[in-house]
Amino acid sequence: MFIPISPITTFTQVLSSQGSTHLRLFGGSNAWLYASGRAALLAGLRLLPRGGPCRIWIPAYLCRSLLPPIEACGFKALLYDITDQLQPQFEAITPEAGDAVLVVHYFGIAQGMEPVRAFCKARGLFLIEDCAHALPDPSSSIHVGSYGDLAFFSLRKQLPVPDGGVLMVNSSVIGQPSSDHQLLTATPVALRAILTMVAHRIAFQCGWNILPLKDRLRPVVGSAEPPDPLNDDHGPSSMTRHLLSCLDWESLIQKKKENYRSLLAILAGIPGVDLPIASPPEGSVPQVFPIWVSDPASVSQRLRARGIDAFSWPGTELLPNIDLTLYRGTATWHRRNLCLPIHQNLAPRHIEWMARCVQETIGRHDGCQANPVTNRDL
Ligand SMILES: Cc1ncc(COP(=O)(O)O)c(C=O)c1O
Repeated sequence: MFIPISPITTFTQVLSSQGSTHLRLFGGSNAWLYASGRAALLAGLRLLPRGGPCRIWIPAYLCRSLLPPIEACGFKALLYDITDQLQPQFEAITPEAGDAVLVVHYFGIAQGMEPVRAFCKARGLFLIEDCAHALPDPSSSIHVGSYGDLAFFSLRKQLPVPDGGVLMVNSSVIGQPSSDHQLLTATPVALRAILTMVAHRIAFQCGWNILPLKDRLRPVVGSAEPPDPLNDDHGPSSMTRHLLSCLDWESLIQKKKENYRSLLAILAGIPGVDLPIASPPEGSVPQVFPIWVSDPASVSQRLRARGIDAFSWPGTELLPNIDLTLYRGTATWHRRNLCLPIHQNLAPRHIEWMARCVQETIGRHDGCQANPVTNRDL
């Protein structure tokens, strides 16, 4: 069995003809396409009016890929903590008018944005929504990405596309980006992502666990990070544009939500597994299913050996030089988090098998008894 963390493109999708416009889900006229989330953030930060000292408040629980665009735009990054439910904790921070505040919808779990927006409005702060893990849910009245002065998305995390980021500009006091990006058939990074997607599709279909091979190859071939937008100003690949125009958004979003609910129902009550987000708020389109365990590294290793692409976010990519004693919520998430796949390609049998593998792995880890699970149990 092989359960990848990201959704997989189907050959029908690649071969289908274009449907609606590719940015329909993001509102269209105020949305711009880039090669990655970080490229969209860079373009957005460049639009912010400058006056004072250029400071941006970011959560301590964040990956370091956001630092280069922030620093390139001359912003000083200051940290705030998050709660156990991933909400921003602003009590301890002292922003000044003109500062920017970045809020993350971790794992596609929609943060309550009304209080955040009121906080920023009262102090004259620019609000940036980091929707890199998220998607707007057209069936909900809460649309992530519509609250911030700026919002950005990273498409490859939720959708079966090789690359892509979206910038949304919601404020009339901010200008609009130019959209003169070079159109490419595929950048080398996108090409590599396409090959990975093909390998994932074959392995998923055939039930081959390719994670040990991928883990062994990673130190040799490196990680598949998007190109540095500071040195490589390309737009998204034309493959991404094509796929965006023919995806069935509504059904893939519903399927993710359904898979989240199913996994939640099975994992609830398993000793050794805590469920920090037992009830995703309205507007959430879960990217993954976050659980808390006492030793995520070892549980992840065992699940990967079974074919489940579980990982701890952001793992070694956490912002550098953080004193975690100052950020209790961040420290807890960093110490205990493990993310499980729940994307739209997974059927009930995958969810059930994964939940049983988790139960068995944790049971064995904690010295409890658990029934062995094999692929033949399905
Ligand atoms: C929370 C968050 N924001 C932004 C990004 C950047 O997105 P991308 O990898 O598409 O540049 C990432 C991923 O690296 C992320 O996890």
